[in-house]
Amino acid sequence: MSKKRLAILGSGRGSNFVALQEAILEHRLDAEIVLVASDLPDAPILARAAEFGLPRSTLLPSPFKTKLSPEGEQALVEALQKYEIDWVILAGYMRVVKQPLLEAFPNRIVNIHPSLLPAFKGLHALEQALAAGVKETGCTVHFVNAEVDGGAIIAQEKVPVLADDTPESLHVRIQEAEHRLFPAALEKLFTGA
Ligand code: GRF
Repeated sequence: MSKKRLAILGSGRGSNFVALQEAILEHRLDAEIVLVASDLPDAPILARAAEFGLPRSTLLPSPFKTKLSPEGEQALVEALQKYEIDWVILAGYMRVVKQPLLEAFPNRIVNIHPSLLPAFKGLHALEQALAAGVKETGCTVHFVNAEVDGGAIIAQEKVPVLADDTPESLHVRIQEAEHRLFPAALEKLFTGA
């Protein structure tokens, strides 16, 4: 079977992208990242992609904060098709995925979220977990559909919440779990294991 061709979309630091690329280089994930794209031209994820010598792309500027413009999303679909992408992987991508992207990659878009979904959907998952006083939270790899953080769950890993946690300290612990869970969950997904 040929290697799955992945596009990574991210808006931030790109630590999950790095974890995936390292898993590929260490043969823990049988896939190939063929494009790293960001909605933010200055996002560190693009610099990290350059360090690995991977093709990069900046998405068209959008008048909306939470989503791409319809033209921007159409241009993204065309770029993904040009690169013959099999799977679109969201790794800290801060825009809501809309049509025509959802339609072009049905059940082929995967996201990682810093909570045990369906708990704490949306942008402030860490703050919500602390405000709720839960003893345990974690991270979830899930399919992306039209409902934000609402698609079918693929895999989860639990993380303890400590009494003196801040959103930042909790995020560090969750990210350690994310960097294990994401490559392992994708490998299972691609091999059907
Ligand atoms: C991760 O914690 C992920 O769960 C959330 O955004 C963060 C991205 O971090 N969706 P990074 O850019 O991969 O370091």
